[in-house]
Amino acid sequence: MAVGRIPENTIEEILSRIDIVEVISGYIPLKRAGRNFRTLCPFHHEKTPSFMVSADRQIYHCFGCGKGGNAISFLIEYERLEFPEAVEALAKKAGIALPESQKQDVGTTSLTTQLYKINELTALFYGSNLDSPPALSAKNYLLKRGIKEESIKLFKLGYALDKWDALIGHLRAKNISLSFLEKAGLILPKESGGYYDRFRNRIIFPISDIKSRVIAFGARVLDNTLPKYVNSPETPIYTKGKSLYGLPAATDAIRENDYAVIVEGYLDFIIPYQSGLKNIVASCGTALTTEQARLLKRYTHNVVIVYDGDMAGELATLRTLDIFIEEGMNVRVVCLPQGFDPDSFVRKNGIENFKQKVQQAQNLFDYKLNILKSRHSIKEAEGKARIASEMLPTINKFKNAILKSEYIKKLSEELNVAEHHIIEESNKVKDDKPFSAPAQASAKKALDINPTEKLLIKMMLEETETINRIKEHLEPADFQDERVSRIVSIMFDFVAQGKSVGTSILINHFAEEDISQIISESVFLEVSSGDKDRVIDDCIQRLKGKKIKLQRQHLHNQIKTAQASGDQIRLDSLMEEFHQLIKKRD
Ligand code: UTP
Ligand code: MN
Repeated sequence: MAVGRIPENTIEEILSRIDIVEVISGYIPLKRAGRNFRTLCPFHHEKTPSFMVSADRQIYHCFGCGKGGNAISFLIEYERLEFPEAVEALAKKAGIALPESQKQDVGTTSLTTQLYKINELTALFYGSNLDSPPALSAKNYLLKRGIKEESIKLFKLGYALDKWDALIGHLRAKNISLSFLEKAGLILPKESGGYYDRFRNRIIFPISDIKSRVIAFGARVLDNTLPKYVNSPETPIYTKGKSLYGLPAATDAIRENDYAVIVEGYLDFIIPYQSGLKNIVASCGTALTTEQARLLKRYTHNVVIVYDGDMAGELATLRTLDIFIEEGMNVRVVCLPQGFDPDSFVRKNGIENFKQKVQQAQNLFDYKLNILKSRHSIKEAEGKARIASEMLPTINKFKNAILKSEYIKKLSEELNVAEHHIIEESNKVKDDKPFSAPAQASAKKALDINPTEKLLIKMMLEETETINRIKEHLEPADFQDERVSRIVSIMFDFVAQGKSVGTSILINHFAEEDISQIISESVFLEVSSGDKDRVIDDCIQRLKGKKIKLQRQHLHNQIKTAQASGDQIRLDSLMEEFHQLIKKRD
């Protein structure tokens, strides 16, 4: 059960007080469609809306990718929250106070709370340093690089003094223990005992999460000594590759423009941002990850990657962009002229020229193909094979069959090779997924539940009376799918306890996504209006019939075995059983 330490009745209370339509429309626009609401699914890429929200049942379901669940599942999926965090968010919305002791358990342990607090204090300290006399050269450095005062404030830029214990001294005076500072990655142990500040004589770039909490720091030298940047290590609140620099300041603009520009460095972010291109984030030098793609996907499905001039044609780098395709996003690529990065390009040529570059971005397929064409001869067999073997892994990442087949067609035209040969090659590389992430978000899982079983679930959820009626005729085990039997068994328990069965509450009793999906799928099942009672009876008969058929098959096999071995006594008893079974059917 997914309930954790928050009492079940509190969760039920929360679910009964909030409105899923309100919750979801806080993130994506919902359009009324009869009794339900409909919109483009936020969990996979699609052109026509198949994401449904039921106000009556307080659940959602996507007919495209199969995702479904209640308001809690939605927040877990959309905001990437942990279960207790999602419950806490909804409790707040419902105006239900979670007892203090439970709040402690809610997502943030006291350690992580402490770490956020320490980072906050640290960012403030570095920030205030910047206005002190020893920071004169640091401040001048920032101004010389064209960073405006407003950006320094907005992005909480700072300076770590040229001392071994400036931060230690400052935070010790605030009674913060060294062990916490070490866990925050801000200090390091000395061999001789004691600690020293990790960041010294460097410009500080605090890195924030989506809630604008400081989770880590990047620190740049003022000259050209190496390493140019020192960064926070991973900590309980910071995992590399899970955040994007600048994202909290960019979300509104990303939504409005419906695309995000991705650059590499801190300055490559700040300079365009302060010049007016605000739908921008920075990856901070590491290869882009699935987590980062998903973070952006909350706001847009379209990204433009801007590479430095000297990055041109780095196939290995381009391959990492396949993760966006896997996430059902559109990727376009720009390469700046040799010797430029976004920071220097904007400072030299102005933001309008930069925006124009972004506008002219080529989609990943064309971009990659052009690079390959410049390297291999597209007229010769060997070249064609090389190009295909580089393009196909990318094409194979498309989950949408239409897009995939379009690109296969395009490739076949470009290479002047028959499509079926391309498809043949494509099937060979299918399982080769070097850059794919472990989690598969948008693949449609066919659960393949018997429609009769789904129909019964739907009707049981509509009326408690139906549950009683079914209970008279069927047992949970009569449902062929094990997951369905579990759902039915919980429903039976509910009515046995005299409780009504709320759909969104029922979902809560299962941690498995599959089960939420079965429930939400059943709810939206289209049924021709007619004699409900007869439909129910039919379903019951069908399941019973199925059961008997299976039993009969089983007996039939046993009888055959008994006949073969000449075991007359066993044969007689089996035959008797067989006749009983046939009688029962009529
Ligand atoms: P770059 O080497 O392109 O630096 O690294 P930059 O951003 O242009 O920096 P400036 O303009 O010289 O100040 C791109 C990004 O890679 C990360 C940083 O996030 C940097 O912004 N990086 C780079 C590191 O983390 N460590 C390094 O030593 C170098
Ligand atoms: Mn730079």
